[in-house]
Amino acid sequence: MADPLATLLTERLGCRLPVIQTAMGWIATPGLVIASSEAGAFGFLAGAVMQPAELEAAILAVKKGTKQPFGVNFHMFQPGAAEIVEIILKHRDQIRAVSFGRGPDATMIGRFKDAGILCVPTVGAVKHAQKMVQLGVDMVTVQGGEGGGHTGSVASTILLPQVLDAVKVPVIAAGGFDDGRGLAAALAYGAVGIAMGTRFLMTRESPIPDVTKARYVGAGTDDILVSTKVDGLPQRMIRNALLDRIERSSGLGIWRRAIESGLAMKRQTGASFGELFRAAKGMTSHGGLTLPQAMMAASAPMLIQKAVVEGDPDHGLMATGLVAGRLADLPSCAELLGGIERDARARLAALSFPASTGV
Ligand SMILES: Cc1cc2nc3c(=O)[nH]c(=O)nc-3n(C[C@H](O)[C@H](O)[C@H](O)COP(=O)(O)O)c2cc1C
Repeated sequence: MADPLATLLTERLGCRLPVIQTAMGWIATPGLVIASSEAGAFGFLAGAVMQPAELEAAILAVKKGTKQPFGVNFHMFQPGAAEIVEIILKHRDQIRAVSFGRGPDATMIGRFKDAGILCVPTVGAVKHAQKMVQLGVDMVTVQGGEGGGHTGSVASTILLPQVLDAVKVPVIAAGGFDDGRGLAAALAYGAVGIAMGTRFLMTRESPIPDVTKARYVGAGTDDILVSTKVDGLPQRMIRNALLDRIERSSGLGIWRRAIESGLAMKRQTGASFGELFRAAKGMTSHGGLTLPQAMMAASAPMLIQKAVVEGDPDHGLMATGLVAGRLADLPSCAELLGGIERDARARLAALSFPASTGV
């Protein structure tokens, strides 16, 4: 009998298991990508918050740490995007895929495809999946509303079959997945695998400081909420005093935080005001955001960085998927993926048992 875990995802991306470790700003660093891909998943490096030189150094670090193929996440509105595209193309010997939300047009997608790099965008709505397929992408990752970071309101159980019915390319299920049962369920829906962010954030190899990891471990589902005040788009976060303050803030407060975050982003990335403004403008044209919201969207990751890099979970923001509310451990990537493989195989075997015995 064919191996049920050998899917179009493992075949095309060249990994052992149909599991993707998604990109998460400042979290999907070389260490996590190496650990997840060595353990059998396909890892995406979080390039969307990196400058070109930093991204190239990170790509080289991954190449040094593993011979497995891996992916890079970026978006066309980030400072240095054109250079980043060239860097990704230059390393096409081991970069097998790119992921993005919005950005690359058909010409750019064509360039990646010509270089043998698969385009695997993440979408949160049926119409975005259809648009991406029209542009020529190879697969789509569908993120249900349970998912971490920016997220929609339609749950995976509804959105996944909707997208599966609407497009002809392979579909990867994301949003709320963390174990072998979820993988078996996603395959049963017709997906070619699962993509997980929060579960990989909560691993031993995830680079976030222990004090912040402890907040993720301690959070229950009631401690997690979706805020639209951080940057105007729904974003799922662990509740803390800062998020409560942001939730109560007025229009003026939003402008103040937009400017503060923009300045912090400028310091961090070395981007000019012009580049930041263009990044923000790019977002307004695609998402219907006001300029202060877009300034926040371009720079809100700085607040996340405070928690996940600086280890200050009281003064930073902790983006998360709802699934963190039921996770209370920090396995290694090898333990996590070993367990997912074992449990998925057990579930799939249990489901096919009646058929295989002729009952
Ligand atoms: C802390 C955090 C940071 C994220 N950063 C990014 C990012 O930089 N780029 C991106 O495309 N998606 C980002 N995401 C979304 C994830 O890549 C992924 O789609 C999502 O976490 C899947 O849902 P799950 O958390 O339920 O597994 C982030 C998610 C989290 C939790």
